[in-house]
This record gives sequence, C-alpha cells and structure tokens, in this order.
Amino acid sequence: MLDYIYEISPVFDHLLKSIKKIALKMNIPIIKEDTLLYLINLLYIHSPKKVLELGSGLGYSTYTFSKYTPQDAKITSVDLSIETINRCKDVLAVSKYINKISWVHSDALDYLKNNTLDYDLYFIDALKSDYPAYFNTILEKADENYIIIFDNLYMNGKVKEKNNPNDKRGEIIDNFNRKMFIKYSRNFVFLPIGDGLGIFTNFNRCEFIGIKD
Ligand SMILES: C[S@@+](CC[C@H](N)C(=O)[O-])C[C@H]1O[C@@H](n2cnc3c(N)ncnc32)[C@H](O)[C@@H]1O
Repeated sequence: MLDYIYEISPVFDHLLKSIKKIALKMNIPIIKEDTLLYLINLLYIHSPKKVLELGSGLGYSTYTFSKYTPQDAKITSVDLSIETINRCKDVLAVSKYINKISWVHSDALDYLKNNTLDYDLYFIDALKSDYPAYFNTILEKADENYIIIFDNLYMNGKVKEKNNPNDKRGEIIDNFNRKMFIKYSRNFVFLPIGDGLGIFTNFNRCEFIGIKD
C-alpha cells in the first residue's frame, strides 16, 4: 500500500524523492514513508512554530518540518557532523523553505543542556543510546505544551536482542520503552509506524499519573 501512496501522493515531491535516492545510494538512514506521513498529519494538527530536530541526516525529515509548518515557523536541526550539515545545506539549497531552517553543529545532548528549551516539538533521531538522557533533559528543562517524537524505538528488532555485549543500544531502548509505558502511560504512545515511533505529549491538559519506579 505504501508503494501506491508513494507513487500518487504529492507529499512525496521531487525534492523528497531525490533526497531519498541519494540517501539509499550513500547508505544514510532516513525516516520511513509512513513515519513521514504521520509526521505531516501531526504538523497539520499542531502547527508548531518552533521545532528542534536532533539528527539532521540528509535533511529528509528537516525538509518535511520546514514544508509543513506555518510560514513563520523556525526549525533548528542539530548534528554532530559538520560534513552532514554541509551536505544537508547543499541538498536543500533548492528548497523554498530553507530560510526556516538553522543548522547547529553540536552533540545533541550538549545542545539540550546548554540552550533554552522553548520548542513546541522535539524530533529525536540522533544517538540512540542517548535517548533516555535527551528525554530526561527535556523533561527537566522545558515548560509544558510540547510534543517529543522519538524515531527508531523498535531499532529494527534490536530491542528484542538481550545481552549483546557488542551493541547495547537495543537493550537501552528496550528499557527506555518499558519505563515510558509504566511511568508516563497517559503521555506516551508507541506507534507501530516506520521503525517504531514514540510520541510523548506534555500539554497542561494532560496529567502525569506518576507511578514510581
Ligand atoms: C538517522 S540519521 C537522521 C535522519 C534524519 N532525521 C532523516 O530522517 O532525514 C542520524 C543523524 O544523527 C547524527 N548524530 C549521531 N550522533 C549524534 C550526536 N551525539 N549528536 C548529534 N547528532 C548525532 C548523525 O550524524 C546522523 O546525521
């Protein structure tokens, strides 16, 4: 079905399709098509004015945030690699939404720790083993009324691999998922979209039920 939507939906425009082609060629991970469709829907509903993306990649998701947010929205995209950021800028140079985007060359956790967190939407797609720290830092520093979206919470199945001495990321994300379900059952959903999409909402109309661990 996704193939069909990909073929006929104008959402997958020329630029997105060419970014995807380059990403496949260069083996750069990008969000999956169903993730992208869900994100666009979420952006239409919430109209965030300030978006923080952790992990720019090839600009596939950055472009989506810049295209489907209000005209005066600002997108900040943080990446550890300056080559990645420069490549993103090149790829998105033809986009008419590029002026909405600022790139920051930084470790994502450092950025969260050292900057004011007044974003409406956080998109987490950087270092998987730092996901718990990203979440805790946002929770500690940001005010209410924001959404955090986590990509890759299924880790291509790695969350089910226990005791892999060479790669602890699956175990870290598995523990994170389990904790989120217990501790934030009213604020967190794990959707079987793409490679596992986590949505944490912290609006003042929601309340934590605060089960202690
Ligand atoms: C999966 S890619 C992002 C894909 C992008 N969101 C998309 O869908 O188009 C992950 C990115 O995170 C960056 N990254 C890895 N570790 C990081 C860290 N500690 N801080 C910031 N960025 C990091 C990598 O350089 C890479 O560009």
